[in-house]
Amino acid sequence: MARTLITSAIPYINGIKHLGNLVGSQLPADLYARYLRARGQEVLFLCATDEHGTPAELAAAKAGKPVAEYCAEMWKVQAALAQGFRLSFDHFGRSSSPQNHKLTQHFAGKLADAGLISEVSEKQVYSNADGRFLPDRYIEGTCPNCGYDKARGDQCENCTKQLDPTDLIEPRSAISGSTDLEVRETKHLYLRQSSMRDQLNEWIDSKTDWPILTTSIAKKWLNDGDGLQDRGITRDLDWGIPVKRGEDDWPGMEGKVFYVWFDAPIEYIACAAEAVDEGKISDWERWWRVDKGGEDVRYVQFMGKDNVPFHTLSFPATILGSGEPWKLVDYIKSFNYLNYDGGQFSTSQGRGVFMDQALEILPSDYWRWWLLSHAPETSDSEFTWEAFQQDVNKDLADVLGNFVSRITKFCRSKFGEVVPEGGAYGAQETALIADLEDRLARYQARMDAIDIRKAAAELRAIWVAGNEYLQSAAPWSAFKEDPERAAAITRFALNLIPFYAGLSSPFIPDAAAAMAEAMGTDLEWPTDAKAALSRLPEGHTFTVPDVLFAKIADEQREEWAAKFSGVRT
Ligand code: 2FM
Ligand code: ZN
Repeated sequence: MARTLITSAIPYINGIKHLGNLVGSQLPADLYARYLRARGQEVLFLCATDEHGTPAELAAAKAGKPVAEYCAEMWKVQAALAQGFRLSFDHFGRSSSPQNHKLTQHFAGKLADAGLISEVSEKQVYSNADGRFLPDRYIEGTCPNCGYDKARGDQCENCTKQLDPTDLIEPRSAISGSTDLEVRETKHLYLRQSSMRDQLNEWIDSKTDWPILTTSIAKKWLNDGDGLQDRGITRDLDWGIPVKRGEDDWPGMEGKVFYVWFDAPIEYIACAAEAVDEGKISDWERWWRVDKGGEDVRYVQFMGKDNVPFHTLSFPATILGSGEPWKLVDYIKSFNYLNYDGGQFSTSQGRGVFMDQALEILPSDYWRWWLLSHAPETSDSEFTWEAFQQDVNKDLADVLGNFVSRITKFCRSKFGEVVPEGGAYGAQETALIADLEDRLARYQARMDAIDIRKAAAELRAIWVAGNEYLQSAAPWSAFKEDPERAAAITRFALNLIPFYAGLSSPFIPDAAAAMAEAMGTDLEWPTDAKAALSRLPEGHTFTVPDVLFAKIADEQREEWAAKFSGVRT
């Protein structure tokens, strides 16, 4: 059986994610995981919270809580929201887990053994007002690359360039805003990734099927001037994974921790080990070690474009540099940004719709469908309330929901809640079966290629085809003249419901489950349209389901647009 390992970029622990974050990694990863499982593959789908570094420390300080306590609480909040959006992780881990401590220290030790780590005495920004060093996000300023004035010490959000705090122009403390900063000496470990440039270049060049978005970002940082600089992998912070060389202390590194971007991707591996320790899977090395069964695993990662440099350069440098047979990623699906109503979604500014708010106003399927069918794949895309209302009303309520309701209610009124007997499928049905065979093949090809918007368009077209069939076959007219014909049409249309349920389940799992349940069937992927469309036999009983999707009224849309126009405090 084919096996696929899927990871979603692990969200920072600091607060609830917005819909832009969701559609940039976790949601499309879930779509793919659900699809492959439905196609009969063995899947391990992993995600976790990214708990170290300055984002966690700053957010805990703001919440007035010890950072460990803050992280434990926020993990629960994020896990519950993931469940609310039906994200089907096999395990939702934590980068602060003991398993990740051990593995991160292990990798550091192996990299040091391979001569890939250097100890560098370097200059770091020290804040006199705050009485501490200011690594990464503790410092803000203007990006030397693009001039963006809110760049952080570790990366510019605007142009994705990885930065060091000392690179920033007009730097200020993110804690106090103080500009009374000075540069002091401190010792840190550096990963000598620049020595692996040729190896990484060759590896990226071999990935000819990767999305351009992924390879272009990777190549840019590999080959543009200072792209692949050696990176500091330790920090002067209290919270994090203590710097050790394997199990041994690292002289001179006392009191320091690994940089969050060093340990976060290692959590992808540690997460599988956590899953074993929690009894969810029996073995993690058969997924992660090429020498222990992992050679036939396909590994696919999902992430936003700002994460691409770390996944195409830094993490592969860690894996390759260890000299051990860990699995390297086979395919990286990356995303542009989803914008919100003429601007950007922003966690720091509280702008947009956040995961908890979204679920308070509508069930997850509405969001899943809209977000996935507008996934920012080839360019940035934009959420507006008008577009959301229009698309949801049309695709989910008018097309899919209406089809299900119309045919089940018609059947109930004329034949009862039972698949009618008599008549045979005719030319119209045969033609639709042939059409659906083609569409099914196209839909699967899009899903296999993780071409999400195009897959959504194929699925929508499959729903539309059923609606058009019902409209033209019109069993309500046939019923008077030719009840046998009406029975056959009705039987065929009822059979489209479990067919749709199976195909729609990766996008809208709750509605799909409700459709299958109403029809008294299991959710099943229809590998063969012809067989699938005779699945409900004559005499099979069903129930008319509740309204699958209610329409969004104009007043409702206006109310939400007003409610979410400001910033969240
Ligand atoms: O951008 C982010 O949200 C990061 N927390 C992603 C980390 S992905 C990984 F490497 F673990
Ligand atoms: Zn920039």
